[in-house]
Amino acid sequence: MTIPPVLKGGFGHFDPKAREYVITRPDTPRPWYNYLMNDTFVSMISHTGGGLAYYKDPRLHRLLRYRYQNVPYDRPGRYLYLRDHDSGKYWAGTWAPVWTKGGTFRCRVGACYQVIAYEYQGIASEITYFVPADRPLEIWDLRVRNVSKRPRRLSTWSYAEFAFWGAMRDLMNIDNCPNVSRQRHDRGAIVHTSWNDIGTGLHDMHFVQNCGFHLSNVTPQGYNGDRDRFLGNYRDERDPVVVETGRSTNWCENGGYPIGSLEHRFTLKPGEEKRIIYQTGYAATDREYRGVARKYLSEEAVDAAFADLKTTWTKRFEACQVKTPDAAFNAAANSFIPYQAAMTLILSRSLSSYEWGVGRAIGFRDSSQDQLGMMHALPERSRQMILALIGAVNEDGSACHNSNPLTGQYGEAGFYDDQNWIASTVAAYVKETGDLDFPMTKMPWRTTKKPGTVLDRLIACEEFSWKHRGKNGLMQTGCADWNDSLNPGRKETESVFTSILYCASTRDLAELLERLGRAKDAAVMWKRYQTMKALVNKKTWDGDWYQRLIFTDGRVMGSRRSKKHDLPEMYLEPQPWSVIAGVADKKRAIVALDATERRLGTEHGHRLTDQPFEVFDMNIGSVGIFPPGIKENGSVFNHASAWMIHAEALLGRGDRAFEYWTRMCAVTKNRIAAKHECEPYVACQFISQPPFHTTGRGRNAWLTGTATWMALASYQGILGLRPGYDGLSVNPSIPSSWKGFSALRVFRGARYEITVRNPRCVSSGVAAMTVNGQPVRGCLIPWSNVHRGRIVKVEVTLG
Ligand code: GLC
Repeated sequence: MTIPPVLKGGFGHFDPKAREYVITRPDTPRPWYNYLMNDTFVSMISHTGGGLAYYKDPRLHRLLRYRYQNVPYDRPGRYLYLRDHDSGKYWAGTWAPVWTKGGTFRCRVGACYQVIAYEYQGIASEITYFVPADRPLEIWDLRVRNVSKRPRRLSTWSYAEFAFWGAMRDLMNIDNCPNVSRQRHDRGAIVHTSWNDIGTGLHDMHFVQNCGFHLSNVTPQGYNGDRDRFLGNYRDERDPVVVETGRSTNWCENGGYPIGSLEHRFTLKPGEEKRIIYQTGYAATDREYRGVARKYLSEEAVDAAFADLKTTWTKRFEACQVKTPDAAFNAAANSFIPYQAAMTLILSRSLSSYEWGVGRAIGFRDSSQDQLGMMHALPERSRQMILALIGAVNEDGSACHNSNPLTGQYGEAGFYDDQNWIASTVAAYVKETGDLDFPMTKMPWRTTKKPGTVLDRLIACEEFSWKHRGKNGLMQTGCADWNDSLNPGRKETESVFTSILYCASTRDLAELLERLGRAKDAAVMWKRYQTMKALVNKKTWDGDWYQRLIFTDGRVMGSRRSKKHDLPEMYLEPQPWSVIAGVADKKRAIVALDATERRLGTEHGHRLTDQPFEVFDMNIGSVGIFPPGIKENGSVFNHASAWMIHAEALLGRGDRAFEYWTRMCAVTKNRIAAKHECEPYVACQFISQPPFHTTGRGRNAWLTGTATWMALASYQGILGLRPGYDGLSVNPSIPSSWKGFSALRVFRGARYEITVRNPRCVSSGVAAMTVNGQPVRGCLIPWSNVHRGRIVKVEVTLG
């Protein structure tokens, strides 16, 4: 298979056909991660096996430990050591933690699976890690092959370190934790049954004795259940005494640090292969674990589960597939863009190598947006998440900024942008699914338990916003608006961004109300929308762009007048949103976006501001705690930068939209991977900019709002596949050099096979369209139930 040069990087390449990223060097600038999961069990795994696992809730049911802020970053992990008993040499099939030199390494990063292959000393191993759909456990499917010319006497040791369930206790209560440790060896399995307090506090302790287990489908010759005895004194995972000496401890004890480690001893003739399947998992009780593990003792069941996983993901990917003239676009839009968007849709901000899983869990504004990119492929999961968010709306229409519906914990409200994100998400869900009953779904209000509907929440949210206007009539920030670090402490500070966001939200709510036959309510919303839109244009247009904040003392940030107060003259967020919300007319929108490119454009995307704060001033916000050029202090903050792609696409300026897409997409980061440092297959949160000491360094990969907006900007923006109440529209905004493209989009059960031709080399504008050969007006494929379950051919000509 030939990989186009554009998809190659210094540490690996995209394999578009397999929808994988292939890491070919283990010494990546930082650990590069992936996820394995099903509905109840989630694992985070680095390219060398590092990372953790949990059942349902990363705070209360942490199965495998991970040491955050550690050196090195990704320990411990699920390792597989190998030892040659003749030479006494040992290494790890995961490369880490032994870090041997001179082997051949390959890690295939796929959708919820990871295949790590390593060849060293004439022994080739390959481990496929994944979580089957129907059991709360990880499978490590190991194959060891003798590729040398002589028989080899080998041992393998698996290694997984159990956590003491409660992640906070595991981190902080060192007096208690190792003393609750209980584990035993049970017929080839290591069983960890420490008690776990899942109560809510001192007066509500609730102890359960859950079970963690580690076992294999081949009878082991030795076992090790205690970390310290396995590693030995004054050693670490790199040189465990058991592996070095080749002697298992055959020891499990209470009151220590539990691990699961099994030894298999075997001889391989040249060319011979051995397969061992390990399971590391969770069971509610000790009595149940054998039952949980039984199914995947069989190789056939494991093969079938892996095939099943691939089919599930192929189906998700195929909900929207494209073929354009651009190899990078195809590779990203058909695999890692939707994959990352799916991960944020499911995980919100709960767990990554930057999010520890005990903090914010579901962020209201983040998760509301996270639904937008992939709800077409995961409508059920999206519906669940939207309902969880609806459950975090208070009766006054404010929204809990963070919540954890699993544990029933709801954080404070106070960020006045929050409640403005949910109406557009609900509207998008209804447009996608056609389910007009969804807004009428009933669920009791969280605090009073009185009955209410989804729609009641949306109206309450709108009312809350309307009540929280400041003295200029614009929306107040509360704690902060989208930009968390513009948190001046005076909640009456007015935010131009939130005012524009409010317009988008209120417009989407008004349209939804019309669809639901609530004309009178809709009319109120439209009136408010118009009022706010007019005010934003009158008060906050600065000549070439929209302003950003109005402080209570009258100072304005993001204006030409700002300089005299030592404040940045321009900020990014309001500019693309003036287009997304329909607040700017076309002329103004073009002026604003052009100015944004001139002042904030970089080779990676658009910076939040070109004048990072040199000093810390809490009257402005915590932004100054970040050194200039990183995080919200003037980096390319990818989430907001992606709004620019979408805005340009909505304006019909396809060349620009695509240019910005190219600057931002992971494929371009692949080529600067050493400098970028983060995973080159997914977006990270921000990219450093001058005056930071290096430009292009990424941080906080995976769980970022960038994921959903890259998906949205690709599918709905550039390709123009836009779901609406009356059907799917096809209104592309592509580079004028594209002669066309084709796409497959599943929509409400119909499979639209779309061919777009661009004979006149334009970048937008539909000249003609046919649906199953019949001409239609405009660019809407009128929805018909007849399409459900069918293939519908759509031909579009631009010009
Ligand atoms: C982080 C937060 C998000 C916020 C953004 C900008 O990505 O998760 O909520 O909007 O930073 O501050």
